[in-house]
Amino acid sequence: MAKLILIYAYLDSFSTVDHRDCELTYLRRWDRLSRLRPVDRFYSFKEFRVYDCMFHSIKQEISNRMRYLESIDTSERQKGLPVSERLCAISPEIGRFIAFLAATVPPGAWIEVGTSGGYSTLWLALACQERGKRIKTFELQEKKAQRARETFKTAGVESLIEMVVGDAKEYLRDEKNVSFCFLDADKQEYGDYYEHVVPNMVRGGILVCDNMISHQAILGPFCQKVLTDERVDAVLLPIGKGELVCRKL
Ligand SMILES: C[S@@+](CC[C@H](N)C(=O)[O-])C[C@H]1O[C@@H](n2cnc3c(N)ncnc32)[C@H](O)[C@@H]1O
Repeated sequence: MAKLILIYAYLDSFSTVDHRDCELTYLRRWDRLSRLRPVDRFYSFKEFRVYDCMFHSIKQEISNRMRYLESIDTSERQKGLPVSERLCAISPEIGRFIAFLAATVPPGAWIEVGTSGGYSTLWLALACQERGKRIKTFELQEKKAQRARETFKTAGVESLIEMVVGDAKEYLRDEKNVSFCFLDADKQEYGDYYEHVVPNMVRGGILVCDNMISHQAILGPFCQKVLTDERVDAVLLPIGKGELVCRKL
């Protein structure tokens, strides 16, 4: 088996995948593949090459676009552009965090409220690849949606994402059996998004609300309400801009 792993590592070194912690990756791939019939193993080999983990083998197209959006975000902040014109993307740390959570949820639909340029959606696309899922993301502004389209195309993840352009409040009630939701849109409307999504969540589903500490003045009362809401278990984490993580009961 060690020889096979080495041969595969050598062949794979020609791919465009950004590898880290290769040994674990290959062992895990082999572990999965070895459970398949030889014929299925052959056809599954290529698929497992790229998509069998989230952070150790991020495709070059995805990581390039992430770096690009991170640099745009930094320069827009430095220029002091108004919030409505900026990407306002989450940090890479929070990207990892939401992808990590999404990869653990029970079966159900995945949604995101507040796409902007698609940075957070790219992180969630990693979890989509890992779990064989798609995500629906809502964006109000056409100008931002245009940038997100460019993101998804450049990163090669269009097939994993459905973007709806419009006010999420008009659509959220129709999203049934939600098992993952990331809220990162208009802070004044968090209460409405929450009330539209929570009744439609599956048991064990996870909802993450961003900006709970950075926007404490606006979101404080909402946070208190959620922490005592008996439909969910919730915890406020002091990471990033403050993430309120809820688990549907
Ligand atoms: C903070 S940004 C989202 C950043 C994105 N999640 C990321 O990390 O890359 C908030 C976005 O929510 C959008 N938005 C605000 N209200 C909305 C609504 N009611 N429905 C859909 N999108 C909305 C804004 O246009 C803006 O692009």
